[in-house]
Amino acid sequence: MVAVFFCCTGSLWAQETLKTYADKIPLNIGTCVGSAFDSNDQTYINALKREFNTVVCENAMKPYSLQPSQGSFSFINADKLVAFAQQNNMKIRGHTLVWHNQNPNWLSKGSWTRATLLAAMKAHINGVLSHFKGKIIEWDVVNEAFDDSGAGARRTSFWQNTIGNDYIDSAFVYAHQADPAALLFYNDYSTCTMNTKSTAIYTMIKTMLANNVPIHGIGFQSHQQISDTSTSFFAGMKANFDRFAKLGLKISITELDVRMPLPSNQTALKAQAVVYRGFMQLALATPSCQTFMMWGFSDKYSWIPQQFPGEGAACIYDENFQPKPAYTALLDVLKAPIISTRFQGFSRPAHGPWSFDCESNSILVQDGQPGHPVLLEMFNPKGAKTGEYYSQSGVRTPLTPFNMARGTYILRANGAAARIPLIR
Ligand code: G3I
Repeated sequence: MVAVFFCCTGSLWAQETLKTYADKIPLNIGTCVGSAFDSNDQTYINALKREFNTVVCENAMKPYSLQPSQGSFSFINADKLVAFAQQNNMKIRGHTLVWHNQNPNWLSKGSWTRATLLAAMKAHINGVLSHFKGKIIEWDVVNEAFDDSGAGARRTSFWQNTIGNDYIDSAFVYAHQADPAALLFYNDYSTCTMNTKSTAIYTMIKTMLANNVPIHGIGFQSHQQISDTSTSFFAGMKANFDRFAKLGLKISITELDVRMPLPSNQTALKAQAVVYRGFMQLALATPSCQTFMMWGFSDKYSWIPQQFPGEGAACIYDENFQPKPAYTALLDVLKAPIISTRFQGFSRPAHGPWSFDCESNSILVQDGQPGHPVLLEMFNPKGAKTGEYYSQSGVRTPLTPFNMARGTYILRANGAAARIPLIR
């Protein structure tokens, strides 16, 4: 009897999940949640609680869900997920306030002037942000405002056509007025690398910041394909992320999935794992990236087959909730964070364990090579290096005199990175 008890307890403690490791870094790791939650699929819900610390409504916070008739808000479904998240100590992203899609007819098919549509936008944003005040870590204020022409042009929509280019500025200003503490994001797809669309967005946000429009982050949706495995793809992505980070923006991966032609096969699943791995590596290497969301985690409920007939298998779990190579890839990266090639001169790079003591602002490196000093580097949330110094293994090294403000920093010991919350 006693033996059984210890055996079970031991295996529970030993369980490795994405959430276990993401919590340590820390990283918001999550998924969109939709019909599986509504239909109370317990297998799904158990996996959701086990693997993730963050959720986003797949459809329940979109305007057609929240304000089905003008002036009449319906928060029931969204509130259910918010309550579930709070009960399970999970964070919540908000998606989305202003979009060309999934609007109620009164809004998208209404007869508007610039002034009346701005007023309707303001009323929606006010109603939604007031309701969820203090509960949402990041809001997608405007979603997908640029088209796919390759010219970096604005998408034609009732927002764009009726109000003009500055509808985006107005949305962010209204959101900031409604909840001054909310973190406000612009979110779009096909923007991970440097291209005309991401450059148009970069230019827009730079102008917004210059005009003091309150925008705090950019969401890269990241609906990828299994061909996105090349070194040049990830190098382009890094350069792109870096330029947005240099604007002082938070960077979130908001809707990652990696689709493939059906039926899947082992080669495709391995390629898919490479893509997921690359995204997680880049997220952890980007100090301003604190959120890594997938658009679904089980192939059973993915949106892909409906919108891309003949394609699917885009998630990290299969239809029977069995982890795929992509799941293992994410877990591997979370367990052993990035090793930078810059430090290959060390015969045995330190992977940790190393620990940071918030109280004394000092770090203890436990597995450096005897006689080989460990290079410690500190990066602020904007990606700028705030310190670089050497430490001996086993010696607690103070991080002062670096004058760092409160926030989450990336610390690398011989290239192995971890995030540290600095509380002052
Ligand atoms: O509401 C009706 C329901 O009454 C009906 O019974 C059912 C029958 O299929 O359809 C329901 O509407 C569907 C809705 O999802 C809710 O399930 C729509 O047909 C369907 O088109 C809609 O798809 C959503 C899609 O956005 C709309 O563009 C997907 O679930 C959702 O995953 C997807 O999410 C978007 C992000 O918001 C933005 N980025 C891209 C991403 C993928 O398209």
